[in-house]
Amino acid sequence: MTLSGKRILLIISGGIAAYKSLDLIRRLRERGAGVRPLMTAGAQQFVTPLAVGALAADHVFTDLFSREDEQDVGHIRLARDCDLILVAPATAELMAKMANGLADDLASTVLLAAAKPVLVAPAMNPVMWGAAATRRNVATLKGDGIRFIGPAAGEMAESGEAGIGRMAEPLDIVAAAERLLDDGPKPLAGRTAIVTSGPTHEPIDPVRYIANRSSGRQGHAIAAALAALGAEVTLVSGPVTIPDPAGVTTVHVERAEEMRDVVISRLPVDIAVMVAAVADWRVASSSGQKIKKQPGEAPPPLLLTENPDILKTVGHHENRPALVVGFAAETQSVEENGRAKLERKGADMIVANDVSPETGIMGGSRNRVKIISRDGVADWPDLPKDAVAERLAALIAETLGAKIGA
Ligand SMILES: Cc1cc2nc3c(=O)[nH]c(=O)nc-3n(C[C@H](O)[C@H](O)[C@H](O)COP(=O)(O)O)c2cc1C
Repeated sequence: MTLSGKRILLIISGGIAAYKSLDLIRRLRERGAGVRPLMTAGAQQFVTPLAVGALAADHVFTDLFSREDEQDVGHIRLARDCDLILVAPATAELMAKMANGLADDLASTVLLAAAKPVLVAPAMNPVMWGAAATRRNVATLKGDGIRFIGPAAGEMAESGEAGIGRMAEPLDIVAAAERLLDDGPKPLAGRTAIVTSGPTHEPIDPVRYIANRSSGRQGHAIAAALAALGAEVTLVSGPVTIPDPAGVTTVHVERAEEMRDVVISRLPVDIAVMVAAVADWRVASSSGQKIKKQPGEAPPPLLLTENPDILKTVGHHENRPALVVGFAAETQSVEENGRAKLERKGADMIVANDVSPETGIMGGSRNRVKIISRDGVADWPDLPKDAVAERLAALIAETLGAKIGA
């Protein structure tokens, strides 16, 4: 875990999103980080130092001119005795102070004295975020090397307002902090990858569709694992209920034909990992109107037609990626079917798994796979899907390196 043992100085400023900082503290601590909180006077109007201190299990720093705090830790040490300074939420006012080098309270003074990476999670009304002064301040801060996460688009806490300005979700802030502090190897830096994930929905009519039980967990985890090794990843996701992975560009689609179009439009890339459980067939002519049940009439027949084969298209494309990895979800003769698929689809590697209902793999959180390539077959043990993703990303990096020279 990248955050294990890391010391984070969390500066909370006075925005309505300060309530989310309480959850953020929990998420950071869950991952092994130590959180030292610092609150502006504004922040204390929204959440109490008591709640923040209790969750952080540390003293809450609030006052620049506190005799005890100055003797004990001091504002300069606060700025230095950490691995990362995280400002969440960051108000327009605090960013303005940072951009102009003001130091009239503890937060702004510590930020001016900062010798460690600073990650800012802005949160404000969309009009404030779009204001010319805020745009100038953000540009200045980016030029000064300050890193940003968010803000996100959506509903504001104040009713009736929507737009860009919501603070990034705590888990996205955690992921950004992890990326910033991750000093692990980046064998895929400079490489591009496309990953598909989830099921497809093939419409019967505007309200009904044909689907499958894929959850997207494995594909999403692979996208995140490739990004963690430095790749620039586009994830093309069918309809799923899990969140988009952080650090990855996610494109949402419904149907196989849409998925194919997005994948092809992103070529050329170095790596393609086709994990999505793409429907083999779609309804030949889906109805534009809801099909009505007519009393006394037989049920309508569902005439199916073949969907595009995305893996095969990518495997034989003129812009074929240097490494093409396919998934084979089988319920029998897993290895044999996987080998046949490798040849038929023009893939370099097939990750084959047994998705018989008793394995609980489809839609579950664990996976047991066989890696089939022209070099042979490797049987991996039963692992959480995240662990399969990490192992696969490492194998992809190694194979790509051997193939084109990393
Ligand atoms: C109810 C309320 C909500 C506010 N929400 C925000 C906000 O989300 N973002 C922001 O930049 N300022 C917000 N403000 C304004 C800041 O609190 C104000 O600019 C304050 O001076 C910020 O001080 P600080 O940055 O030192 O905490 C809000 C003010 C009020 C009264």
